[in-house]
Amino acid sequence: MAGGVHMTNDARALLPDITGRADVHDLVVDFYREVVFDDVLSPVFGEVAEVDWAEHIPKLIDYWCRVLFGDPGYRGAILRPHQRINELERFESAMFDRWYELWSMSLDRRWNGPTADRARSHAARIADVLSRRLTGVDWSPSDLPSDVVVLGEGR
Ligand code: HEM
Repeated sequence: MAGGVHMTNDARALLPDITGRADVHDLVVDFYREVVFDDVLSPVFGEVAEVDWAEHIPKLIDYWCRVLFGDPGYRGAILRPHQRINELERFESAMFDRWYELWSMSLDRRWNGPTADRARSHAARIADVLSRRLTGVDWSPSDLPSDVVVLGEGR
């Protein structure tokens, strides 16, 4: 992608792990900044779901703080909202591929460590559950290159 930078494994080894809510906030905001410009995903969050970002982003921060740190706060159910979207427009494997790719890139750009790894593996597991429940098809991440291309800065 234009303006993209490569990060070597050495450089990535110096990145910190995700340690608290402020990091989760930054991760979630980075991720959705990519989603809103993405050709595959932006229509789903925009025209189809008409997501209210002021509501959605704090909810997702709560969700990931529960997953990663066991914080109380998120009390939703994850399948139902995705079922609702699926009834409006069917999910496809390509959407899960893209979602996971952007999530992985958002992680790799700034974090490295066991908690970042859990954020990635949890996402892969939920993507598979959602894919099976919504499309009837198993989903698993295709291998990303170890030297991950990080999207350009400056948006
Ligand atoms: C193809 C992939 C995905 C797409 C297109 C997608 C899309 C969406 C959309 C449009 C919403 C808003 C629904 C609404 O408020 O009406 C939503 C909610 C949410 N998504 Fe996803 N999603 C995907 C995968 C995932 C995965 C893999 C996870 C977890 C790792 C996840 C976690 C959540 C959570 C926690 C919510 C909030 C649910 C609630 O209202 O409590 N999503 N998603």
